[in-house]
Amino acid sequence: MSNILYMTSEVFPLIKTGGLADVASSLPAALLELEQDVRILLPAYPEVLEKVKAPRRLATASYYNLDVELLETRLPDSNVLTWLVHCPAVFDRPGGPYMNSDGQPWHDNALRFAIFCKVAVDIALDNLALDWQPDIVHGNDWQSGLTMALLSQHPSRPATVFTVHNLAYQGLFDYPTFRDLKLADSLWSMQGLEFYGQLSFIKGGLVFADRINTVSPTYAMEILLPAYGCGLEGLLQHRRDRLSGIINGIDQKVWDPGTDPHLAVTYTRKTLAKKIQNKAALQEKLGLPVNAKIPVIGFISRMVEQKGLDIILQGMLDILALPIQMVILGTGEVHYEMQLAEWAQEHPEQLKVIIGYNEALSHQIEAGSDMFLMPSLFEPCGLNQLYSLRYGTLPIVTNVGGLADTVVDASPANIENATANGFVFKPNSSDELLATLKRALQLYQQTRLWRRLQVTAMSSDFSWQNSARHYIDLYKSALADRDAAIH
Ligand code: ADP
Ligand code: GLC
Repeated sequence: MSNILYMTSEVFPLIKTGGLADVASSLPAALLELEQDVRILLPAYPEVLEKVKAPRRLATASYYNLDVELLETRLPDSNVLTWLVHCPAVFDRPGGPYMNSDGQPWHDNALRFAIFCKVAVDIALDNLALDWQPDIVHGNDWQSGLTMALLSQHPSRPATVFTVHNLAYQGLFDYPTFRDLKLADSLWSMQGLEFYGQLSFIKGGLVFADRINTVSPTYAMEILLPAYGCGLEGLLQHRRDRLSGIINGIDQKVWDPGTDPHLAVTYTRKTLAKKIQNKAALQEKLGLPVNAKIPVIGFISRMVEQKGLDIILQGMLDILALPIQMVILGTGEVHYEMQLAEWAQEHPEQLKVIIGYNEALSHQIEAGSDMFLMPSLFEPCGLNQLYSLRYGTLPIVTNVGGLADTVVDASPANIENATANGFVFKPNSSDELLATLKRALQLYQQTRLWRRLQVTAMSSDFSWQNSARHYIDLYKSALADRDAAIH
């Protein structure tokens, strides 16, 4: 058994902007089941404080002259111990975890997450008299990167693991910010936190963690290449022997069509015929013509370039010429939101666009759609294709990252050997997207065959069982590397 401090900037159901939140609740729960003593460390945003009841104060401290309390609560449902970094001056404000309500990054993000990282360091080094010390500090994404850098300067430190959920978000700030944060001068170098004249939080993790991983094996390979490495490919190649990929699991209790409370009708592999009632409910709810025969294509996503919105928009006229209905749920960059809303206004019988974040509707779209579109330019893992598979909603995806690792194209050979569970095409081409949609629509007409593909999809195992064990192995390797580094 190991003590693990799991640092995350979001966790479901307390606060969520994307897949990290889902992983940060389901992986620690799976580790707990494998008898690891895991504690989540999370900033105390207002939404979080509203959702937790009477958290207990564990310690107080001060960083950069700002008061901080460490609060303890438990994650709803899974009961994982969760420690909240309560620093009202930087976290207790209306808006998102990273951005204000105008979509601009908080002006003091460096300070906010430096405080978060410093609390982790003090827990790790037992400076807060908590009577608990981690063997492993597991950081996620740039918001936790400084921890690894700061811990590297201490001889008796826990081992560190850094998980990259998305290399495109790096936490870059100017040099005066580096100075303001009073970080050691020695960290300002190419071998440290400096990245082309800027302070890079993510480099803290990539340079200094004992082990680095990404959330799928394919993405772990891709980021060694300039096309996907976001300028960090050289560093990652250098640390290649410490880099691996572990595919995300999903929370099979939250995403279970057999028990999902958000659905009009629950269904399983054996009662798949009932799925269609969710389609009718979705069509009705959104004001689309209720018609069982028209294939419904779902899309749920942050609206950012990564998710392939440009090729959807480029191909929209041709896509809407197909006999389909399309349901899009998401929020993000305003220009995408506006263009999509315009298309929806012009084609109200075929296209519904819901701008916003809606957990219940996301479940209803997963269940009510026949197909689910994810034409990402890159995708470290992707969770929606996994939810889609579980809901018998065949994913149509690009062959990148975790999408390539989890979706098997319905080619004649894969249909023949019963591995096909979706449709796969090359990224960044609306022609390819259109051709693949047409291919999927042809197979959709072959009801029996489609049913077989759905059953294969629903039989895939994306529980955390295997992946959580891989993390435990990774922790062991990190401990061995730490021991080798300090002796
Ligand atoms: P990413 O983390 O890059 O956004 P993932 O596929 O890993 O992509 O995870 C996205 C998660 O966020 C999924 O659980 C998805 O259902 C959810 N999600 C994204 N946008 C919305 C939205 N507008 N409403 C509800 N859920 C959303
Ligand atoms: C990131 C990635 C996504 C991944 C998620 C959880 O947000 O964009 O692909 O599934 O993290 O690991």
